[in-house]
Amino acid sequence: MSKLSFEKSVAGASAFSLPRCDIPPEAVTVEIPQNFLREEDPLLPELSEVEVVRHFTELSGRAYGVDNGFYPLGSCTMKYNPKINEWAARLPGFANIHPLQPQDTVQGALQLMYELEEMLCEITGMDSFSLQPAAGAHGEMTGAMIIKAYHNSRQDYKRKKMIVPDSSHGTNPATANMLGFEIVQVKSDERGLVDLADLRSLVNDEIAGLMLTNPNTLGLFEEDIQQIAEIIHAAGGLLYYDGANANAIMGITRPGDMGFDICHLNLHKTFGTPHGGGGPGSGPVGVKSFLADFLPVPVIEKQGSKYILNYNRPLSIGKVHSFYGNFGVAVKAYTYIKALGKTGLKEACENAVLNANYLRTKLTDHYDIPYNRLCKHEFVASARKQKKESGVTALDVAKSLIDRGYHPPTIYFPLIVEEALMIEPTETETKERLDEFVEAMLAIDREARQSPDKIKAAPQQAVIRRVDEARAARRPVLKWSPEK
Ligand SMILES: Cc1ncc(COP(=O)(O)O)c(C=O)c1O
Repeated sequence: MSKLSFEKSVAGASAFSLPRCDIPPEAVTVEIPQNFLREEDPLLPELSEVEVVRHFTELSGRAYGVDNGFYPLGSCTMKYNPKINEWAARLPGFANIHPLQPQDTVQGALQLMYELEEMLCEITGMDSFSLQPAAGAHGEMTGAMIIKAYHNSRQDYKRKKMIVPDSSHGTNPATANMLGFEIVQVKSDERGLVDLADLRSLVNDEIAGLMLTNPNTLGLFEEDIQQIAEIIHAAGGLLYYDGANANAIMGITRPGDMGFDICHLNLHKTFGTPHGGGGPGSGPVGVKSFLADFLPVPVIEKQGSKYILNYNRPLSIGKVHSFYGNFGVAVKAYTYIKALGKTGLKEACENAVLNANYLRTKLTDHYDIPYNRLCKHEFVASARKQKKESGVTALDVAKSLIDRGYHPPTIYFPLIVEEALMIEPTETETKERLDEFVEAMLAIDREARQSPDKIKAAPQQAVIRRVDEARAARRPVLKWSPEK
């Protein structure tokens, strides 16, 4: 393993040259209070320019992303993000504007946001959108705030319970709980879908709503969605669509048509912005017209040929992000949607579903697939057979994939599948890539039977080998300190 920049430091080396300060010392009138002054120079690495370049170039080569290879991280939709999106977001007219500029000077940016909101309405079947939330979880929180504001506006204060399925993504109960809702869990049935009988037994006049992703985290479409909507609505609750899985439905069906009242979309998953580590995200929230007054302010409106920001919304939940959200992500999503068009979005969705079913079918004879039927954009396999036969777990399979040049799938989620391996290939992978991945998975299965210790010792090729996962999560050491 190569050295840290601090360890490479050589006293006196430097990679910068600053112009001489042209302010005479007597012109400096501001006194910095003594307690804010350093007693010692900061301990910074001292390296020449070429050493800095080499250091970071070497580090960048260790990162693994979609641009390096296959990244089937279930639920995360790590699909390829076309570079034209980056080009658009960097256009000076978008990249160099300031959110406090007079509205007349940023009409193009306002138009882009207005039209993006319109396109998201069309894609989801909602009536109004806000681009403010910065991520999926933030969208969920905004949605839960709207649900609360809606019931409060009707003086229906007893609705303090939010239903989530036992397969739900952790952010659903977490965000609802942050808003003070009590979480009620509805069971999945033997099909892996919401158990309708259980749902019926849970609803009453204390239910605020149900948060649901469709397809669910098993990659299965909730076939009874209309009945689910009827049950929730009949009890006076609202239906929230966690749109993080919208890659599986875009262009085919819409949450608004399924009976959902509110939804968010992860622009950083479905609409062409890198997800995770690749910069800020965006989780716009859309609502049916009867909830539009509760959306965050400002709302972008069109008056004649002019776009304006309207803050005059007395029922609004207020702001959930500075200014108007992460504008750069909005530019990327706009570019992505315009470049693909209606048929392109549908085709992307169809290929995502086709790729997932191809992989599922190819792995069926080698890995357990507990809910093994037509899936949408992802499916959940299990390593329980390997664990029983040779002690090789889902974690071991994941580590062994690293040695074979792949980013592992999501593991141990959803919680209702033992030794879960949640695989989402996305639409941008070729059949050749999928076949290579299948080969790697079959090789791991073979090796698990022949020499399980080899798999349990993986990864051997990675810079970091096995870490103590619990310690790394609970006591992460994220900075270097000179005492060590
Ligand atoms: C099903 C589901 N819901 C919600 C989220 C939360 O989205 P974010 O990570 O943008 O907060 C995710 C994240 O991947 C997800 O997969």
